[in-house]
Amino acid sequence: MVESDPGHVIESCLIMTSNNNATECYVYVTLPGETDFVTAAKFQLTIDRRGISIGRLIYGRSYLARDNAVSIDPIELGLSDKTYTTTRLNGIFGALRDASPDCWGRRIIEKHCGKTELGEMDYLLFSPDDRAGALGFGLNQEPPAPLQQFNQTMDLERLQEFADAIIHDENLPEGIEVEQVQDVMLAGTSMGGARPKVVVEDEDGFWVAKLNRPDDKWNYTRVEHAMLKLGRECGLHTAASKITTIGGRDVLLVKRFDREKTDKGYRRARMLSALTLLRAEDNAENREKWSYVLLAEELRRISSQPKADAQELFRRMCFNALISNTDDHPRNHAVIAIGLDWILSPAYDLTPTPLISEEHRDLALVCGDMGRYANAKNLLSQSARFLLELNEAKKIIDDIEETIKHRWYEIARREGVTEQDCTRISKAFNYSGFRLNTHTEN
Ligand SMILES: Nc1ncnc2c1ncn2[C@@H]1O[C@H](COP(=O)(O)OP(=O)(O)O)[C@@H](O)[C@H]1O
Ligand SMILES: [Mg+2]
Repeated sequence: MVESDPGHVIESCLIMTSNNNATECYVYVTLPGETDFVTAAKFQLTIDRRGISIGRLIYGRSYLARDNAVSIDPIELGLSDKTYTTTRLNGIFGALRDASPDCWGRRIIEKHCGKTELGEMDYLLFSPDDRAGALGFGLNQEPPAPLQQFNQTMDLERLQEFADAIIHDENLPEGIEVEQVQDVMLAGTSMGGARPKVVVEDEDGFWVAKLNRPDDKWNYTRVEHAMLKLGRECGLHTAASKITTIGGRDVLLVKRFDREKTDKGYRRARMLSALTLLRAEDNAENREKWSYVLLAEELRRISSQPKADAQELFRRMCFNALISNTDDHPRNHAVIAIGLDWILSPAYDLTPTPLISEEHRDLALVCGDMGRYANAKNLLSQSARFLLELNEAKKIIDDIEETIKHRWYEIARREGVTEQDCTRISKAFNYSGFRLNTHTEN
């Protein structure tokens, strides 16, 4: 199957989904330094008599025999000839799930398959080549040739129109055929996340293009761009971004940190979300493992620069607490391996939430002894787990607090956030509960 022809991919998906019988697939990986896929493993998904989904993965013998083979997930799926099994995440190993779309991409796939109930395997197989990380999936043992053509930044106006139609579940704009949408939207929606987005390419490489929704309460794209800049000023390593204005609407372009353009094509970094590192489930009812403290421990195990990364994670936790980024769930943190070594990825998806409570705000992940409480004393309570001395941790908190206090507004305005939007988001910054009960001890 030649996947560089999007029509071909769609056709095969429709066959698979109408039969609903795809229970196994091959897992391909782009090895460090390479630009083409090789076949790494076989993945099988079955449902047992109790209705529980079980995933099984086995590396191919010839893959294991390569001296440059890398694991799909060094902790859960180390290179070995054994059969790995899982029932977590509906039988989809975290590393594979991380390469699968979330709400937004799923919605588009469903729309084009004409079905709302697709299996996890369908989502894996249907997503095209520009998914996050270095993995690919297919029904053929032979991996597909890499895609040669991608949406370009200049296609954004059309993509934006399509996205609007999908958000409103509307008919497509006049003169646009469903097939056209399939071609352009599917090639670009395998990234995760809930907000509308597409992947586009320009001469510098790949970008995640995040679109405003017509029903947004403020200009999200400009605000997110400003937060990435503010984060950098607070000492965080954030993804590179820029704003482009298309048809009078702002689009946030975030540079993909898992792709590297070369003369031969794109190198790909392997990528694992924090959800996978934590071996956690992805629903809020089942979140006992959602924790920065546990994540710091996992990061120390996997990272080739454990101290720097644990401390960077601490900084991100403080930053999120101080901008009330309560959407800091485990899919909004990741590790990447461009070569053999794993490191914390640049920070992305930083969004302030202007909540009403001035005393108590919770982040999505546990930050310390007082749970998810976005509070300085709580953040300090486990700072040793982030390989920080108490005085170092205090200084990080104080510095980030000061920078946000003095700089958020200026940076937001500089990056084009309107006065009105600044007023709308202002309550997100330095809320008073952050320092509650801490003055005497600190
Ligand atoms: N700059 C980037 N490079 C590579 N992958 C990214 C980048 N930004 C986001 N991602 C991946 O895409 C997913 C969705 O992006 P995100 O910004 O979190 O969107 P949303 O606001 O919809 O949650 C992330 O969970 C991550 O896996
Ligand atoms: Mg996200």
